[in-house]
Amino acid sequence: MAGIRWPPEDSDLPQPRAPAVPDLISDDDRSVAADSWSIKSEYGSTLDDEQRQVEAAEVLSSGNFRAASDYSSDKDEPEVNEDEPSMLGLQSYWDASYAEDLANFHEHGHAGEVWFGAEVMDTVVMWTKNSCLNLSHDQIAVVCGDCKSTPEASQPLSKWSVLDIGTGNGLLLQELAKQGFADLTGTDYSEGAIDLAQNLAARNGFSYIKFLVDDLLQTKLDQKFQLVMDKGTLDAIGLHPDGPTKRLVYWDAVAKLVAPCGILVITSCNKTKDELLQEVEIFNERMDSQEQEEQGKGSRGCAFRYLDHIRTYPTIMFGGVEGSRVCTVAFLRK
Ligand SMILES: C[S@@+](CC[C@H](N)C(=O)[O-])C[C@H]1O[C@@H](n2cnc3c(N)ncnc32)[C@H](O)[C@@H]1O
Repeated sequence: MAGIRWPPEDSDLPQPRAPAVPDLISDDDRSVAADSWSIKSEYGSTLDDEQRQVEAAEVLSSGNFRAASDYSSDKDEPEVNEDEPSMLGLQSYWDASYAEDLANFHEHGHAGEVWFGAEVMDTVVMWTKNSCLNLSHDQIAVVCGDCKSTPEASQPLSKWSVLDIGTGNGLLLQELAKQGFADLTGTDYSEGAIDLAQNLAARNGFSYIKFLVDDLLQTKLDQKFQLVMDKGTLDAIGLHPDGPTKRLVYWDAVAKLVAPCGILVITSCNKTKDELLQEVEIFNERMDSQEQEEQGKGSRGCAFRYLDHIRTYPTIMFGGVEGSRVCTVAFLRK
């Protein structure tokens, strides 16, 4: 996913991201992607989803939403959609992409793309494993108080319920399985992705990993997970022509999937760590005001707190500013 937003040439980038578009995307595809403002998908056609979109759009238009950009700070007006929409925000793109990957798998046994590369995936997996093992009761208590559904600090990794949203070929879950996680579920809205992930898991001896077709933005899952992983999915969602609205719906959806005091780990190339923190802050404020409005009707209490981020990614220089091309941030759910 890296490279889905090219840095503006004349901008003051605080955290530049180098492009690393996967090999399967040709130059032609890339230019089509850049021109895809007008592409419409069948995305979000149910009544429930439409209702959520309307609510999210209302939040946007009420001015509660600020484009979470470090480098829009010198502009007078907040910019609503700073991520240039592209084909990568459309389900039709992913369906076509995974159909091709599936054909390649059956013909040549290929696994498809590792988004952000194998090194980033390994780093995310080891760091997540250590974060889960080192999560202390003190950290949890600061955020959640005495929370009954908290994962035990000493709980073995095999007991953690893990969900990978927008799992693609599911390789991230296979890597987590190698580290000792065992209760693993992957979801994706593309049937081809789930088909590919199931085939790869079976071939590699991980048939116990569960894979389900599910659109995160209108999720049918009614389970909560102690660890939720997102590698490139929020990025993809943000590239939909209605990206800013979809990102609001994303936070509502994810808040329902992360168990109280569970962890959400987001790996992104389109937002910096600070931009993600700002986005979460806006979500928290929105939840707080909803709770206040709903007092007496029971509060939702589903806000996130920053827990930690990966500090070891290689950095690059861009426009005289140092930064890394991806960021990984963990949030603890209250
Ligand atoms: C950049 S790919 C990353 C795939 C995988 N996480 C990885 O790291 O290899 C983004 C993935 O998000 C999925 N996706 C995008 N929007 C989604 C949605 N609303 N619900 C479920 N999956 C979605 C796409 O089908 C795609 O597999």
